[in-house]
Amino acid sequence: MTHRDDPVVDARPFVVLGVGGGIAAYKAAELLRLLSESGHDVTVVPTRAALKFVGAATWSALSGKPVSAEVWDDVHEVPHVRLGQRADLVVVAPATADLLARAAQGLADDLLANVLLTARCPVVMAPAMHTEMWEHPSTRANVATLRARGVIVLDPAVGRLTGADTGPGRLPEPAAIAQACSEILARGVAEPDLAGLTVVVSAGGTREHVDPVRFLGNRSSGKQGYALAASAAARGARVVLVSANVSLPDPAGATVVRVTSAEHMRVAVLAAAEGADIVVMAAAVADFRPVSTAAHKIKKDDVDGVPGPIELERTADILAELVSRRASAGSRQIIVGFAAETGDPATSVLEYGRAKLARKGCDLLVVNEVGDGLGFESEDNEVVVLGANGSSSAVPRAGKRVIAEAVWDCVGALLPR
Ligand code: CTP
Repeated sequence: MTHRDDPVVDARPFVVLGVGGGIAAYKAAELLRLLSESGHDVTVVPTRAALKFVGAATWSALSGKPVSAEVWDDVHEVPHVRLGQRADLVVVAPATADLLARAAQGLADDLLANVLLTARCPVVMAPAMHTEMWEHPSTRANVATLRARGVIVLDPAVGRLTGADTGPGRLPEPAAIAQACSEILARGVAEPDLAGLTVVVSAGGTREHVDPVRFLGNRSSGKQGYALAASAAARGARVVLVSANVSLPDPAGATVVRVTSAEHMRVAVLAAAEGADIVVMAAAVADFRPVSTAAHKIKKDDVDGVPGPIELERTADILAELVSRRASAGSRQIIVGFAAETGDPATSVLEYGRAKLARKGCDLLVVNEVGDGLGFESEDNEVVVLGANGSSSAVPRAGKRVIAEAVWDCVGALLPR
């Protein structure tokens, strides 16, 4: 029985949504809605500049709570300390160049800066600003400082900015930021274990063109690779996602490089892998391509109504090339491959996996049996992560986000401590 005097215990995660003074402040209203609807107790703390873009009435009405940018309101409740102490997560979206600088300096000149100083929970910052400001050495240094302290600073998305310019600096989509927040809260770990690391993930399926309208492709949807990229960003990594023919929204915090063919993918992956700490080849890369691609659509009349055979040649094996480059560079890069296999009476899926791991020379091979509604195009997967050191970790059937977390846990076990 509940008495009226009993304190009401709110079991929902307590999230502080900090809003910086940039034009993308209006998008934080959508983030607030998504976080609230997915069961979070959200308090909005805008900066003074943010209130010039979206007023306190909007934040207050949407959150159902009083809203202030100042430390001088409701002083008896000591909000400048209490909010940060109570928070399970602080997410700042958009984080402006000014806010990143103030956070890196440890200033306490408004309520949000105080929250950032008192919070001991995970802190996620989603920057949004013009490309020049994002690329300025001051901002780069402030981001590096914050990341070194364990703050998860998501890379901004690339695209249309205010006015006519485009480039890196867009706020990632609110849904992608909300997803990252849920994942960070679900992991319940304050320390982002991939912080400071650069990760390259390939995703999707390559297309090898026969002519401008026809191609040889495969059924990969890219869902597993996108899930890997999203989880890595939520675990603090800088993520480059090399994406082949995927129609999914960009994960928050990942820099997406779009490619089409196996050769495009090879060039993009090898460039991104230069100096990267971890490379995960989740893409389904074509093993064969047409020897030649017709410049014009092949018409029925061109071939007298009866097409000849398409002559194929091998593509380069990107995973094998990564492994041999690592050996010649003497680097400690961690390389992860994927293998979608089917077994047969003579050889099991795992036996094929072990043989492939040895052949490819990577550190981990994520093996899954295709079929039974798993693998390609499906929401779920069921994998065994085989290690070159003989380890084997089975992940039972689960959503691709859960599989991604399990893969990063296996990668984490290989990182130097
Ligand atoms: N891979 C690659 N380059 C290729 C083909 C595959 O980097 N040209 C990578 C995939 O991204 C995956 C791993 O190699 O991480 C295994 O892919 P898979 O197609 O299973 O391996 P193959 O060597 O092509 O073996 P199989 O003959 O069984 O197809």
